[in-house]
Amino acid sequence: MADSLSSPPLTKDLRRVLIDADSISRRVDELAREIDERYKDIEEPLILVGVLKGSFIYMADLARKLTIPHIVDFIAISSYGAQGDKRGEVRLLMDTRENLSGRDVLVVEDILDSGNTLSYLIRLFKSRGVKSISTTVFLDKPERHEVPVDIAFMGFDIPDVWVVGYGLDYKEKYRTLPYIAEMYPQK
Ligand code: IMP
Ligand code: MG
Repeated sequence: MADSLSSPPLTKDLRRVLIDADSISRRVDELAREIDERYKDIEEPLILVGVLKGSFIYMADLARKLTIPHIVDFIAISSYGAQGDKRGEVRLLMDTRENLSGRDVLVVEDILDSGNTLSYLIRLFKSRGVKSISTTVFLDKPERHEVPVDIAFMGFDIPDVWVVGYGLDYKEKYRTLPYIAEMYPQK
């Protein structure tokens, strides 16, 4: 899977490349085709809501591959551990620009871990009277789920390890690597 020619060298923090750039690109193509098919009869443009910061690269790639009418929007929420938040606690830091009421909404997320972030967002958007709500997540850690979340468009299952690249970070590092890499456990 890993192509040493297209991948920058790994640093001392990174154990191995889990998903190389070509595999990412091929999978995003497939996901875009599935989403196109699902929403081909849509009346008003689909609103893509990316969860900042982690989703911004997946959002950019996915949105450019969609052929259905769509609008790009973002939301920011706190992740657990940040500013000493309790695990499982989710706070809204920045809301969408679009009014989601009566609209078809697709939440675009980097990774499904405990499921707390997405279950919070799905509840929030339903309470705002969306016409429909669905989710796409690029990576899933099935072993870590704490709350059930229904994902319509899933990229890859991965093991319970910390991964970086393609939007995902470790303390703001490695976010723009073109591949998904597994980190060594950090002390
Ligand atoms: P949740 O536990 O499903 O609510 O996921 C919370 C957030 O934690 C995700 O949206 C990611 O931003 C972050 N996260 C979880 N696992 C990883 C990882 O392996 N690398 C980088 N970020 C992660
Ligand atoms: Mg995230």
